[in-house]
Amino acid sequence: MRVVIAGGHGKIALLLERLLAGRGDQAVGLIRNPAHAADVQQAGAEAVVCDLEAASAGELAAVLSGAGAVVFAAGAGPGSGAPRKDSVDRGASVLMADAAERAGVRRFVQISSMGAGQPPQPGADEVWAAYITAKTAAEDDLRARDLDWTILRPGRLTDAPATGRIHLAAPPLPAGTIPRADVAAVIAALLGEPGTRHQTLELTGGNSPVAGAVRSTHQRR
Ligand SMILES: NC(=O)c1ccc[n+]([C@@H]2O[C@H](COP(=O)([O-])OP(=O)(O)OC[C@H]3O[C@@H](n4cnc5c(N)ncnc54)[C@H](OP(=O)(O)O)[C@@H]3O)[C@@H](O)[C@H]2O)c1
Repeated sequence: MRVVIAGGHGKIALLLERLLAGRGDQAVGLIRNPAHAADVQQAGAEAVVCDLEAASAGELAAVLSGAGAVVFAAGAGPGSGAPRKDSVDRGASVLMADAAERAGVRRFVQISSMGAGQPPQPGADEVWAAYITAKTAAEDDLRARDLDWTILRPGRLTDAPATGRIHLAAPPLPAGTIPRADVAAVIAALLGEPGTRHQTLELTGGNSPVAGAVRSTHQRR
């Protein structure tokens, strides 16, 4: 399956590209900096230069043509201010969903964040509040669409090696951390389980093996 990943040079995206390439899927990483192409290719994916704060839905739809799934793994990142939380964490997700609809790509896995889905706590840091507001708006946009979406809300990300053991369930989950490598494995599994569509799932480290945890989320519906 051809899988187009927004934020193709992100830490989770590069791990996911390796997993997809390893199982014979064709990953395409969207990047805004051409210098990132070599890393994406080394991870086994095709690199396409596309700035998600500048591209049109029509341009993106052409890139998505023929894909089996879209993964939204972009983010404005640590160091960015409130305006880019809106233009990337919300705006780029909306753009990808618009393009997916135009291109007829139904499967859409969105990386959101634990904390989304409710208003930021009063007195929260302004940039954190903008981030949570943007993630919540991106989720709401996706839920309203006729797409086979799955929203994945990881806890705080770490760069620890994969454990293969997770806690994946409908909200709310207790706060926790999760290695990016485990998030990538969960996304790869979600792509192979279309029965997980129309679910919002939270994810932290836990005790359940990835494949079984993903399978049981749609058996519980
Ligand atoms: N940090 C946490 O604890 C945490 C917790 C839960 C969820 N998340 C979410 O998890 C997701 C992935 O995390 P991660 O650590 O893998 O992210 P990451 O390493 O920061 O990667 C994000 C990617 O998005 C790209 N990007 C930003 N603006 C773009 C644009 N205009 N056009 C195209 N690409 C653009 C960045 O490219 P450049 O290098 O060019 O900027 C970067 O490669 C993010 O959505 C994040 O919000 C994070």
